[in-house]
This record gives sequence, structure tokens and C-alpha cells, in this order.
Amino acid sequence: MSCHKPDPKQAGFDPSLPSGGAPLKTPIGILYPPNLTPDTQTGIGNWSDLEFVNAMQRGISKSGQHLIPAFPYTSYAAMPVGDVLDIKAYLMSLKPVTSPKRDADIPIAFLLRRGLGLWKFLGLNTTPWKPDSSQTVAWNRGSYLVNGPGHCGECHTPRNLIMVRDESRLFAGGPHPEGQGKVPGMRSLLERSRYKDKKDLATALQFGEEFGYENMASGGMRQVQINMSKLPQSDIDAIAEYLISLK
Ligand code: HEC
Repeated sequence: MSCHKPDPKQAGFDPSLPSGGAPLKTPIGILYPPNLTPDTQTGIGNWSDLEFVNAMQRGISKSGQHLIPAFPYTSYAAMPVGDVLDIKAYLMSLKPVTSPKRDADIPIAFLLRRGLGLWKFLGLNTTPWKPDSSQTVAWNRGSYLVNGPGHCGECHTPRNLIMVRDESRLFAGGPHPEGQGKVPGMRSLLERSRYKDKKDLATALQFGEEFGYENMASGGMRQVQINMSKLPQSDIDAIAEYLISLK
């Protein structure tokens, strides 16, 4: 929802539906994330399961073009296909909204799409997420949510010169991918006295700025935190358990 927000100028504007069209700033230009409602003309209404999975996990559009990785298929690629199809089933149950696709304002769009094949060869890891049997069930749940659907690493992992995530510095923080300021690291949160304990971190993830946790307020983190607050308590605790284990 945070990225696929409707454009307020849209006819029949409904802020609760991911009908897309609101601008999303990225380092390469402004993108207008598309309509995820099941409208058959302008949304995903006539997408097959295969087309949806190809977009979510391989970054390939319905018409066979490479999608720009501002869409974090690089994280969704780690999800089991069943979870991706559950998301499709949910999206298909929403009210269809007419919201035509708007082309990105990118100076070198044509060149960029051509280069994306090579970029994906370097930057798209399609290894599915795997549980670690030496860890608790909650830790594994947290690891899955953070590395898969939560796509936390898209902002919290630094990127190299060609914007590929530097996995050797996973979650180490770095320049903000939208080009403004920095994203903090997610490692050693307790050792660096960012949080007192697991419970303190879970409270921060759940309530953020409202409870005075100012370091979850800006650079897109506020929306992430508001979205996380809708998760069941057990999932929030699982994310906190996983995060504090990252040294
Ligand atoms: C859109 C980019 C983006 C995404 C996606 C994102 N974050 Fe953040 N995160 C930030 C930024 C920017 C900050 C710093 C905010 C501030 O200082 O106000 C931050 C701050 C944090 C902090 C506070 C760190 C500290 O030092 O206290 C935690 C914890 C955190 N994020 C966890 C997560 C988790 C968990 C996810 C995935 C569910 C996530 N973030 C996804 C951008 C992002």
C-alpha cells in the first residue's frame, strides 16, 4: 500500500486501495507504481497466476519486459510461490479501480530497460528462503518476514556502484536508496544501546514515533512501521527476535 498508493487526483479516489499512480522518487527518476486492483483493463484483473509470479519473483512484466528493481522482486524471489499466490488471491478480491499506467519519468528509460537483463544477472538472487533448524520457530518466522515479504534489506543493505545489494554487508545500513540521507544498520541493535532488550525493540516496531521512538520516523520507515503494527503480536516479536540476533 505504501508504494502503490492511489493518486489523489484519480476518479473515485479511495486511499484504502492499491490502485497506484502516486509518484515514487528513486535515484533514477520518478516512478508511478501501477494499479494492483483487479481491473481488467488497467489493473491485474486478467493476469494469470504465472504472470503474477513472474512479476513478483523474476521481475518480468506481463508483456515480457524487465521491471525496474525499485519493485523489490529481489526480496520477493525468496518467498514460497504459495505465499505469492495468496497475495494474488487477496488482491483479486479487492474492488477494481480504473487507474491507467503512467510511464516513469526516467531520462534514459529505453537504455535502462535494456541494461536491466544484465543487472538482474548480477543482482537478482532467486534462491528461496530456507529455515535454519538450529534456531527457534520465532527466529525463523522473523527471518522469513524480514528477508522475504518485508523486504527490509532493500533499504537497510548498502548497494554497490550499479545499485546491486552488497550481500557481504547485509543489513549494515548505508545511503538511502531514494537518494536522501542514510539508512541505519539493523545489526547489533542491543550492543549499540539502540534498544534495551527484545521487548523494547518489539514496542518500537509496533508503535514507533507515537511512543517516542524517533529513529523510525523518516525516509519511508514510518510507513513500514505503520504496516508492521498491523501484524499479529507473535510476528512483531519474531521480527524483534531475529533482528537482535544480527551482530
Ligand atoms: C523504504 C526504506 C526502508 C525499508 C523498506 C525499511 N526501512 Fe527500516 N529504516 C529506514 C530508515 C530511513 C530508517 C531511519 C529512520 C529515522 O531515523 O527516522 C529506518 C530505521 C529502522 C530501525 C531503527 C534502527 C535504529 O538504529 O534504531 C529499525 C529497527 C528498522 N528500520 C527496521 C526495519 C525493518 C524490520 C524493516 C522491514 C520490515 C525495515 N526497517 C524496512 C528505511 C527503511
